[in-house]
Amino acid sequence: MSDLRISRRAALAGASAIMAWAASPARALLQAAELDVPASVDALIAKMTLEEKAGQLNLMAAAWSGGVATTLNPPSSGPSFDGQLGDAVAGKLTGVFNGNGAAMARRMQSAVMRESRLKIPLIFAADVIHGHRTIFPVPVGEAASFEPDLAERTARVAASEAAGAGIDWTFFPMVDVARDQRWGRTMEGAGEDVRLGELFAAARVRGFQGRDLKANDAMMACVKHFAAYGAAEGGLDYNTVDVSERTLREVYLPPYKAGFDAGALSAMASFNEISGVPAHGNPWLLDTLLRGEWGFKGFVVGDYTGDEEMIAHGFAKDSRDATRIAFLAGVDMSMQSNNYFLHLPALVRDGDVPEERLDRSVRRVLAVKHALGLFDDPFRRIDPKREKARTRTKANLAVSREAARKSIVLLKNDGDLLPLPRTGRKIAIIGPFAEGKHDLNGPWVVYGDNAQAVDLAEGVRAAAGTSNVTVTLGSKVEEPLPGGIEAAVAAANAADVVLLAIGESENMSGEAQSRTEIVVPAPQQALAEAVAKTGKPIVVVLKNGRGLALEGAVKDAPAILVTWFLGSESGNGIADVLFGAYSPSGRLPVSFPHDSGQSPYYYDHKATGRPAPNLTEPYRARYRTTTNTALYPFGHGLTYGVIEYRGLELPQSMGWDGTLTVSATVANTGKRAAEEVVQLYIRDRVGSVTRPVRELKAFRKIALAPGASEKVTFTLRRADLEFIGLELKPTVEPGTFDLWIAPSAQADGVHGTFDLVKA
Ligand code: NOJ
Repeated sequence: MSDLRISRRAALAGASAIMAWAASPARALLQAAELDVPASVDALIAKMTLEEKAGQLNLMAAAWSGGVATTLNPPSSGPSFDGQLGDAVAGKLTGVFNGNGAAMARRMQSAVMRESRLKIPLIFAADVIHGHRTIFPVPVGEAASFEPDLAERTARVAASEAAGAGIDWTFFPMVDVARDQRWGRTMEGAGEDVRLGELFAAARVRGFQGRDLKANDAMMACVKHFAAYGAAEGGLDYNTVDVSERTLREVYLPPYKAGFDAGALSAMASFNEISGVPAHGNPWLLDTLLRGEWGFKGFVVGDYTGDEEMIAHGFAKDSRDATRIAFLAGVDMSMQSNNYFLHLPALVRDGDVPEERLDRSVRRVLAVKHALGLFDDPFRRIDPKREKARTRTKANLAVSREAARKSIVLLKNDGDLLPLPRTGRKIAIIGPFAEGKHDLNGPWVVYGDNAQAVDLAEGVRAAAGTSNVTVTLGSKVEEPLPGGIEAAVAAANAADVVLLAIGESENMSGEAQSRTEIVVPAPQQALAEAVAKTGKPIVVVLKNGRGLALEGAVKDAPAILVTWFLGSESGNGIADVLFGAYSPSGRLPVSFPHDSGQSPYYYDHKATGRPAPNLTEPYRARYRTTTNTALYPFGHGLTYGVIEYRGLELPQSMGWDGTLTVSATVANTGKRAAEEVVQLYIRDRVGSVTRPVRELKAFRKIALAPGASEKVTFTLRRADLEFIGLELKPTVEPGTFDLWIAPSAQADGVHGTFDLVKA
């Protein structure tokens, strides 16, 4: 059905209503920061009842075959699919999320376009986080690639698969800076760093939205969770956030801003409060800052029952109150509570919510539906044939394998244990993640299937043959396996090398999976200790959704690979690195501290008045038993080459309106090809506000053949030296800066200083 025709009819029929709307206070309320819409959209609004308007602001989990959304979120007593279809036709719903493919979408959209009074197309949303059916590494793993371009490409593939399956809108990217590794949702973002976070946020938005949002392989991105959700006290999911406005602006907000600047047309409010005000009820955040200061033109959706949860926060009396507060704060659309549909009409009738505000939010939602091309063709993304044709293609799986191997971080490689020869060695793969169709995709996958992913044993056998490979579980993930250790020790004794596949299972990270101790679970640690006693060389193949504190035999193993959850091509990606088809190029986007008790630990912390250079000086800022450094810092990762940094060329000063061009020579003196992530850090030595000990400002990934070297050049501008000053505005002060070009946040690399000079 062509809704162009509908629009024309509507436009004619509603001409007088449009004029009334155009002259109304609601129209006047629209500031510059609103999307343009054709007159037909305003005509529609003019014809809508209060209930129909509230319906456009009401998003619910899909009820098709029980729906998966409620298995990934707290359960709800939603309607049956037929009931939901009835609600959609009655105009009580703007769309549904986490539904089930093009067939479901077609049924719902057809019913609405055929039978509903106003024929406003539904929008279909989903948590397409790191792939749709072809699954890529969890986002924090992918950030380890330090290749925003890769994230853009994986997002493009995910968008093409998901949009092919009728999905218009993804609830991604999650751009919450995560500095406390106890927080389970670390796996869903780009880690602890601001600059890396900005670059990945923008890349992911570009990847999902593509060049033309109306295209049938593009979908709308949703920057979430706004804001500072990752700063939860104690790393406890959903917990209180209390950060200063300076830290908010300097650390937590920039990645969201980068996502919006890249064109994301939706934002999701976060579950947490900030300084006593829940994000869902925070007009400063959602209106003054997001729309006023940043000029955001899309709409804000609440998180799953987030409006209702303000009652538990002690911020709203009841559901009606929660609705009023959330709506007036700037949450345009409510997710899953049904509150907006239930309460907004009465709130307007009673004068508690101005109808102009309601119209404004409806207009935003319809403007986005228009931008997605849904008014032109409500079925543009709904095509079961296309869905099938685009799913898990060879090309998509190739991107997944590339992303998998690029996300792996080699923490340690004593005695060049890696890469392993493909033949001539007996390999024992030991551990709960050695084999089996589980824990491959990661915790936040709605549509991907672990059964279709390649496990470690499959990957190793494909690379090294079957005859020399044994598999022994040795332990369950969080419980011992009877006889497991004995079997593992026997397997290790019979082998030349052990691949110890240990770490966290999928359900140990992700939403609501905070940990008090970020360690390898005790039964697996015991397995590692027993296997280490055999004296066989061990390669730890770590599975993890966060930075971990490694202990004992795991920490002491000669080789350690961080492999996160790598998705569809997990085993193949790991085998590529193990056997040297690919020299590891991933770098840590999160610090691995020495000890859980250092949490929250992040590299760009402040210095304190008593920095602790070592463990011996008393009265210093350190714990009794550990230095306050990382075991493996942010940015760390080895390759199979041997990398050297030398020849820093750094001018003594940078003029106020000038630039600073700095370079270093990076050489591969080893015998194998390498890719190096060359990182530039600065420290502002003295400021009117104290500055972190180091801040990443730029990085470049370069490929170096054996014996090759490259002069790597960066250009800094004054804006790169900015911080949020005493007046809470971006500020730069003249003075001396340290500068490092280095392989990690804790490495010296090459170091010098320069002065920023005000003429
Ligand atoms: C709650 C999560 O916080 C959010 O990230 C997700 O998009 C929604 N559930 C919908 O599944």
